[in-house]
Amino acid sequence: MKDLFEKIYKDKGPLGKWAAQAEGYFVFPKLEGEISNRMKFQGKEVITWSINDYLGLANHPEVRKVDAEAAAQYGSAYPMGARMMSGHTELHEQLQNELAEFVNKEAAYLLNFGYQGMVSTVDALVSKDDIIVYDVDAHACIIDGVRLHHGKRFTYKHNDIESLEKNLERATKMAETTGGGILVISEGVFGMRGEQGRLKEIVALKQKFNFRLFVDDAHGFGTLGKTGAGAGQEQGVQDDIDVYFATFAKSLASTGAFIAADQEIIDYLKYNLRSQMFAKSLQMQLVVGALKRLDMLRTMPELKQNLWKIVDALQSGLKNRGFDIGTTQSCVTPVYLKGSIPEAMALVRDLRENHGIFCSIVVYPVIPRGLILLRMIPTATHTLQDVEETLDAFDAIRERLDNGTYKRMSAALIAAMGE
Ligand SMILES: Cc1ncc(COP(=O)(O)O)c(C=O)c1O
Repeated sequence: MKDLFEKIYKDKGPLGKWAAQAEGYFVFPKLEGEISNRMKFQGKEVITWSINDYLGLANHPEVRKVDAEAAAQYGSAYPMGARMMSGHTELHEQLQNELAEFVNKEAAYLLNFGYQGMVSTVDALVSKDDIIVYDVDAHACIIDGVRLHHGKRFTYKHNDIESLEKNLERATKMAETTGGGILVISEGVFGMRGEQGRLKEIVALKQKFNFRLFVDDAHGFGTLGKTGAGAGQEQGVQDDIDVYFATFAKSLASTGAFIAADQEIIDYLKYNLRSQMFAKSLQMQLVVGALKRLDMLRTMPELKQNLWKIVDALQSGLKNRGFDIGTTQSCVTPVYLKGSIPEAMALVRDLRENHGIFCSIVVYPVIPRGLILLRMIPTATHTLQDVEETLDAFDAIRERLDNGTYKRMSAALIAAMGE
């Protein structure tokens, strides 16, 4: 019989196989210093474009003060136990009520982590007769939630309403035989490429089909919409989103998440969300911290204005210099270049070592082979000077990519990897 670990010794997986070349630098890098527009990487200052601290709250003095006071008052244990058993408090309830009001829903429920909460919410919303229809580019937490589903599921082409419609037709036929309902899942903003989910058009399909809509708005919450209530507000369809989700890990610069919906739906979920029923309650420190952050989001519109000033400068600057930033409709700023994985590695090294620019790099198999995606996240803490320096650096790396410098630099690796 085979040893269970045999496959692990042989195959490290699609990303793990790059560990020897990538670890500590391209993956698991250690950014040091206070979270801000400029941090340290391997002892050198870099402009950081890879942190989802959209509104610049992570290191805001008022936030740091409240976090520190809450830590002093409650420590990191309080409250002990799951919400249902012994981990429920007035402040958890207050935060839920304030979040619900902010995103214009009747009720909200806290989740310890966005990822687990999404998985668990998908799981709780459907039973085996139901059918899930979801965007093929959905975040891993949606995919993993769908994996728990015992019934049928269909994917539709990314943000393609015609494809969604076709799949809704199939799902409707199937639901008529199973006696179940249909759950459609989209993201408010697709975090890799920055497009908004076509929520308005999805909602319009409710005229023709009977389904409920669940939206993961991790990147839209705090950044889109008049008050920052997200992609649904931006597109004028917040009321037609049946279950709304956002994480604290981005605009709110913390840990935790929430779902919001009609009272009756939240009442059901609170008794059926396994990730919350069988896990310790969100720490009080994080609850108090989230109340403070939400208050700032509500009362300091300048945070979002500062963010968008930087987003606009970066995105229009890149476009004016002829860079391909795809079809983003949000703060997420992708820059698409052509090259192999070894070239991408040489390019990112050049960006970090010689230009002091730190951004995330995404390559095959996450995007098609031969494409390099540099993914940039502007924040309210960046300056126009940061943008100018970055644009100049991008001009320089593009020239070296085009004139074959990176190909020559990575020749040995290209040969070794067969790229
Ligand atoms: C679209 C999306 N959904 C969910 C999550 C998970 O949230 P969390 O980090 O709170 O687990 C993320 C990433 O953080 C995300 O980008």
